[in-house]
Amino acid sequence: MNRPAPVDMAHHSHLCGMFAPQREEVDVRGLDVVGELPDGLEGSYLRNGPNPRFDPIGHYVYPIDGDGMVHRIELSAGTARYTNRFVRTPQVVAEEKAGRALWAGITDPYFPAADEVGPDLANTMRELPDINIVRHGGRTLALAEAAPPYALGTDLETLGRETFGGTLPVGLTAHPKIDPRTGEMVAFCYMLDPPYLTWSVFGPDGAVTRAATPVEGADRPLMVHDMALTGTYIVLVLAPMVFDLGKIFDGGSPLEWRPELGVQIALVPRDGGAVRWFTTDAFWMWHTANAFDLPGGDVALDYVEWRYPGALTAHAGPNPSLLRRATIGSRGVTRTTLHERDIEFPRIDDRRSTGRHRVVATLGRSGSRRLPSGSADALFWFDVETGADTVWCDGTLSPGEPAYLTSTSGAGYWGSIATDFTDLTSWFLVFPEVDPGAGPVARVRLPIRVPAGLHGAWLPSA
Ligand SMILES: [Fe+2]
Repeated sequence: MNRPAPVDMAHHSHLCGMFAPQREEVDVRGLDVVGELPDGLEGSYLRNGPNPRFDPIGHYVYPIDGDGMVHRIELSAGTARYTNRFVRTPQVVAEEKAGRALWAGITDPYFPAADEVGPDLANTMRELPDINIVRHGGRTLALAEAAPPYALGTDLETLGRETFGGTLPVGLTAHPKIDPRTGEMVAFCYMLDPPYLTWSVFGPDGAVTRAATPVEGADRPLMVHDMALTGTYIVLVLAPMVFDLGKIFDGGSPLEWRPELGVQIALVPRDGGAVRWFTTDAFWMWHTANAFDLPGGDVALDYVEWRYPGALTAHAGPNPSLLRRATIGSRGVTRTTLHERDIEFPRIDDRRSTGRHRVVATLGRSGSRRLPSGSADALFWFDVETGADTVWCDGTLSPGEPAYLTSTSGAGYWGSIATDFTDLTSWFLVFPEVDPGAGPVARVRLPIRVPAGLHGAWLPSA
């Protein structure tokens, strides 16, 4: 196949405006703060996201294409510093040498040949560690979906592909979960060939304590973006988004939405016992908020439910995204709506992960303006015990995924990178956990625009 044509960036909603790639890399201390950073807020907020190093060729599908850029806002003694770096995969390094994009989009059946990229990279796919970030066992990892992550150093420099001593060559999900009670990190990985799904465990020191273990009963290649963890189970929601790579070569999508297959839910015992399988009617899920064990052996899972996977399919029609709870176990699967807003990117105080949580923070749309797909103008906080619903929307800022910020004072906060609709300046917002709807107590002015999208993590200093 010939080299694909450049993408028309000016007319691609995820390559212009708030989503336009950022090509500058900076490290700036002493940032301006409107308001006051709270005492005891010591640590770094890191966010990863798709950010093509060069103007893309072929197709660009948000959020699955791009290169990774990691943004860090470091808070210390009331001051703020911003640093950003590309995640330098071998493909990014080769493109920097060439000064242009060499690989096309992940849905394009085009792979550069040896005369362009050398024998080692010929016919490889672009690696995409651009989705999420996690710190565990002394490693900071930029995470891809179902592929090896990349380890980052203290200056956000790329240390290299992380296969955990060769034990996980296939990689892992972009959404592993850390059990705050045991310090373990648990991950899964999907693949296109049997066994289709595996799970693995990392001890608190980062060592692999369970190498990739097949999820018995997984019988087809599915796209599975997120997971949840309870004290007892790994919870895997297998929506009917089926891979068929052969379709790429026929000019079609490698993914097919097949609602007639319904959703399978696997409860995988963390002790290695037999997998419990459940079925329910079709829906799509990108993200979980949390799961926890109920008395009697059932599991509660809070997650965002879509009718179908949006732009990844040709399917059309209304597609609300609701915060729902699935109760899984003795009575099969029961799904109820917790929160009627149109939301995504649910997050909790991660210290409550695997146990009962109270507040789910989400990104959402107020309904007061037209927004490009994948962007928001509001944050919502929903208390699953009281039903209390708090909203923040100031009309000029488009926030990103919220993250819970711990502090040494014991007070809790929520942080979010936001970009101003009017002038495209970016800010890091700090909301108090108590009454976040009153607005941020501090707004840190970031020195460059941070493109909208995807996931982040708060890494406390102590
Ligand atoms: Fe995600």
